[in-house]
Amino acid sequence: MIDLRSDTFTLPSKEMMETIMHAKLGDDVWEEDPTAIELEALAAKKLGKEAGLFVSSGTQGNLVANMTHLNRGDGIVLEEESHINMYEVGGIGQICGAYPFLIKGEDGLMSPSDVEAIFTRSYNVHWVEPKLLCIENTHNRGGGKIIPKSNIDILSNIAHENGGVVHIDGARIFNAAVATDMPASKIVENADSIQICLSKSLGCPIGSLVVGTEEFIHKARKNRKAVGGAMRQVGIIAAPGIYALNNMVDRLAEDHKHAKMLEKALNEIENIRVKPVDTNLVISDISSTSYTANEIGQKLSQKGIKVSIMGDHLFRMVTYFGITTEHIETVVSTLPEVFL
Ligand SMILES: Cc1ncc(COP(=O)(O)O)c(C=O)c1O
Repeated sequence: MIDLRSDTFTLPSKEMMETIMHAKLGDDVWEEDPTAIELEALAAKKLGKEAGLFVSSGTQGNLVANMTHLNRGDGIVLEEESHINMYEVGGIGQICGAYPFLIKGEDGLMSPSDVEAIFTRSYNVHWVEPKLLCIENTHNRGGGKIIPKSNIDILSNIAHENGGVVHIDGARIFNAAVATDMPASKIVENADSIQICLSKSLGCPIGSLVVGTEEFIHKARKNRKAVGGAMRQVGIIAAPGIYALNNMVDRLAEDHKHAKMLEKALNEIENIRVKPVDTNLVISDISSTSYTANEIGQKLSQKGIKVSIMGDHLFRMVTYFGITTEHIETVVSTLPEVFL
């Protein structure tokens, strides 16, 4: 089976698994796990921030960061189709007690005037005050779209000039870094906190990190404890993260090349609209064909290819470590057959 549903289906390499056997361990709730400490420092360095915190998942990382930035009743400004808004069980509401200001973006890209309109409203006793701006880069439902640094900088300035703070959901920030040939630390230089996922494009079995200032991470550590995310000999899962940050970033270019091959093949089929591919996600709109996404999903599955269904006429294919050029060539030759 060629499973293109998500990069979360990636499996650790033998070299990555070996790091687990040799990981130095301690009790991380006591801040004595040397491997977790090393990974947190490494992630902070790669993102150009003072400190890092290992968390169990991207959802937990975003939640802990948002809990740390927000007080109950604060406003959070985020893109309508962002992962935090759509797929994190409303944690910003049910746990942070925050009010969402939703902005309709273009494949995840928010316009500065929309963000400015929220952050510069005059005081009114009836209104929620915006406090936190969240930007997702790359944007998942935007088809892995890279949010340009220039846009991040403008939006961050708007938030900062109006007393707000900025969090980046950088689940796939290294995809953006590799595709634009810009260090991740440069992309996020104006953000206050960033969440990165190890368990997607970077090929780890588990884990994410939040990075920010020492003070922010000190508070976030307590919030992580509150949501049950403080673990003990966490070096077992942190060791692959060190390997990934050192060895799995540059190879993302290969995933991007594979995604481009899929984009080209899909564009050659009549009536399919593919979101422009920036990184490793390929989203196709087939509403102008006579098929539903479910029908295509089933036809592909019968031919040994799995895709994820994102709507009645929307399906997604994702490239990642474990998907080879040979796999992609098979998919490319199969696609025209299922749209016959
Ligand atoms: C952009 C983005 N943020 C956050 C997450 C959440 O990560 P996790 O599944 O590890 O909770 C995902 C997962 O797909 C994602 O795509």
